[in-house]
Amino acid sequence: MSKSISGFSKLSKSEKIDWIVSTYLSNSDIAKNTIKQYFNTDKKLQQLHDEFIENTISNYYLPLGVAPNFLINGITYAVPMAIEESSVVAAASKAAKFWMDRGGFKTTVISTTKIGQVHFMYEGAVDDLRLFFNSIKTKLIEDSKPITKNMEMRGGGIIDIELRDKTENIEGYYQLHATFETLDAMGANFINSCLEQFAKTFKAEAEDTLDSPVEVIMSILSNYVPDCLVRAEVSCEIEALSEGDIDPEAFAKRFVQAVSIAEVEPHRAVTHNKGIMNGIDAVVLATGNDFRAIEAGVHAYASKDGKYKSLTHAKVEDGIFSFWMEVPLALGTVGGLTSLHPLVKVSLDILGKPKATELMQIVAVAGLAQNFAALRSLTTTGIQEGHMKMHLMNILNQFDANSREKEAIVNHFKTHTVTHSAVVEAINKLRA
Ligand code: MEV
Repeated sequence: MSKSISGFSKLSKSEKIDWIVSTYLSNSDIAKNTIKQYFNTDKKLQQLHDEFIENTISNYYLPLGVAPNFLINGITYAVPMAIEESSVVAAASKAAKFWMDRGGFKTTVISTTKIGQVHFMYEGAVDDLRLFFNSIKTKLIEDSKPITKNMEMRGGGIIDIELRDKTENIEGYYQLHATFETLDAMGANFINSCLEQFAKTFKAEAEDTLDSPVEVIMSILSNYVPDCLVRAEVSCEIEALSEGDIDPEAFAKRFVQAVSIAEVEPHRAVTHNKGIMNGIDAVVLATGNDFRAIEAGVHAYASKDGKYKSLTHAKVEDGIFSFWMEVPLALGTVGGLTSLHPLVKVSLDILGKPKATELMQIVAVAGLAQNFAALRSLTTTGIQEGHMKMHLMNILNQFDANSREKEAIVNHFKTHTVTHSAVVEAINKLRA
């Protein structure tokens, strides 16, 4: 039986499901039921989700959790997080509470500039190209007015356009490197529309003026935004780090060493930064932003010195422990999914309808808090204790435990170490 199809997108949703199930799945009734189980009974809401993408067959749920008690620049937030990993929200909440009792997080938006580029080839004399660019730069901006008018009225728009000579990297390769202020919008559509207009004007004018042709290869925003930067930090006297039986001096020393390791050792840096992204991505997703763009930009920033490094830094100086991070975050609180997805609207409302700059600060704090929580566990008890406690419910659900079994087993593991095999053994024993 052929596993390929033409015209799939033209089929109705139920025809698509029938085709997928009959072509790829052996247990078709169960698969079909599972797919349909996730349909929303509210037809309008379902249609909204169907229309986000092409070829929708169902909805894919992630839990939406909330980590309360985030004190940021004196304001207390409950931070919405969409994530499947069991321990992330718990860790964020714990770190938030810890720092709330020690003055909270401080944040600063350092810059908000976004970037887009028209990549083109030109084999003629570079001086001619420079003269030509300088002569039409104003026209490039003028021709984009229908696109930039509204953004300019709100105080944003095109900041600058530069001609960049990249012929050292590829023969004949140049760029129009443009910078933008997109205010509360993430700005992808705005930037890409401006770039395509620049390309059009540039090419048309070049045909009339230059001896050699300009070949536009592509026009696209860059997700590398090192000038859309936010800083988040915490600090306190070393003694204030004490909690339970943790010795604050020893803890601070081990913590700073753990960060130093991630600053010099890429294998550790990747995992260290992954933990930061647990916090960042969860808030980015809950607020309807593009987590792939954020991921790509943040990891590129972690390699900005030519080597992949920790995004966070820590030090102890004059008896003060400080822990901080600078991270590029091009986020939006208007446009895109932010005004479409009902849960995104709720998440933004929980945060008090933030401006993009405020969201940048909240997201950076979620990343810093997550890293603090991870390093605190790693340098003291190890992460498995907390992680497996949170994961216990997943194992119980895998075994279809009922509420009586869950209660008994959760009770048992209050005083025993959770491992997968220990939980299986406990279920079997209980069921026997
Ligand atoms: C797990 O999702 C994240 C950690 O591995 C991060 C880290 O090692 O710092 C715990």
